[in-house]
Order: sequence, then C-alpha cells, then structure tokens
Amino acid sequence: MNPAEPSGKALNAVRLAHLIVSSRLGEGGIAVDATAGNGYDTVFLARLVGSSGRVYAVDIQPVAIESTRARLEIETLSDRVRLRTGGHENLRALLPEVPDGCAEVVMFNLGYLPGSDKTFITRTETTLSALEEALRLLADSGVLTVVCYPGHAGGSSEAGRVCEWANGLPSDRFAVTICRTANGPEHSPFLTVVEKR
Ligand SMILES: C[S@@+](CC[C@H](N)C(=O)[O-])C[C@H]1O[C@@H](n2cnc3c(N)ncnc32)[C@H](O)[C@@H]1O
Repeated sequence: MNPAEPSGKALNAVRLAHLIVSSRLGEGGIAVDATAGNGYDTVFLARLVGSSGRVYAVDIQPVAIESTRARLEIETLSDRVRLRTGGHENLRALLPEVPDGCAEVVMFNLGYLPGSDKTFITRTETTLSALEEALRLLADSGVLTVVCYPGHAGGSSEAGRVCEWANGLPSDRFAVTICRTANGPEHSPFLTVVEKR
C-alpha cells in the first residue's frame, strides 16, 4: 500500500493531512512537498494550486524523483511542478526561487519509499533540520504537515523527536496540533500540524 493512497475511507494521518492542506491551499498558491516519494502528495498539491500556482517537490532518491515525474506526466500536471533531487535538510538551498515566508503549505511524509531501498529512510537529525528550513519558507497562516511512522525501525525515535520539536515551538508564533488514532494499534502513523500565526 502506498502511504499516500490509503485504502478504505476511514480517516488516517495521510487523509487528515490532505483535508487540512486542501482547506489552506488554492489556485495560484505555492506549496512544497519535502518527501516526493512516488508523487502522490505532489499530484495532490499540483491539483490544488492550479495552472497559476507552483509546487516544488524534493526527494533524496533519483528513483523517487523519476517516479514523481512519471506520475505528473500521466496526470498532465508537470508544468506547475519543479522537481529537485537532494536532501530536504538543504531545502532552502534547493529552492532558491522560493523566498522565505512564501509557501502556503509544506508537506512531509516520513519513512521510506514503498517498494524501494529502505536505507533511504528519513532520519531524525536531517528531518529536524529540514523542519526548521520548512518553517522559514512558510507564509503567515501557512501550514506544515508531517506524517510520522513510528512502526518501523528508527521511526519511533524519529516520531518522538518530531513531537518534541513541535511541542517546543513558541505558541505566540505557531499553533501545533497532533492527530493520532485513539483506538488503533500502538504504532499507527500520526500527523503533526504546525500553523504559522
Ligand atoms: C513515505 S515516502 C514519501 C511518500 C510520498 N509523499 C508520496 O506521496 O508518494 C518518504 C520519502 O522520503 C525520502 N527521503 C528520505 N530521506 C530524505 C531526505 N533527507 N531528503 C529528502 N527526501 C528524503 C525517501 O527517499 C522517500 O521517497
């Protein structure tokens, strides 16, 4: 199963992220997908920003960028998306055309690319650096979403550190919400949302 395309209709971390993002992003918007993977989130963002908007999608794996490129071509959405291969810990350097404070949305979907090399898993230290970079890019009233996967090796500690990071953000500048299943398995994916006030 692709984490960005869950089966069934129940709410889950990915679906909640999409619901929140779709309430904040519209025609002409600027959005960043910091973990492009197989391109599902990139396509979702590209539809929301319309032909006058722009999506920037980053992944450390060339195979992920090629997968995203192919999906965008099938959906005829390539024109409105710029793809970058590199680590999201260097997000602002990878996206020199996005000034600080200009992105309405930045999305992270942590973990590994389904069906690919699991050594390219997101890692705590680079994830935390990338989240700091993302906050700089975020516009006022912009929203940052982070889907965390505590169920795989290393995922639990990364997810815990993401929560600690978010909990430590100053409440006069950022509103933080963490959404997790109340009656599902202990290590279910969960969503962290940071809104810039
Ligand atoms: C769960 S997948 C993303 C799924 C994707 N959003 C989608 O819709 O298909 C996580 C992705 O993060 C990427 N990744 C891991 N470390 C990274 C890093 N330091 N910088 C950028 N991407 C990274 C992996 O290569 C993988 O493609």
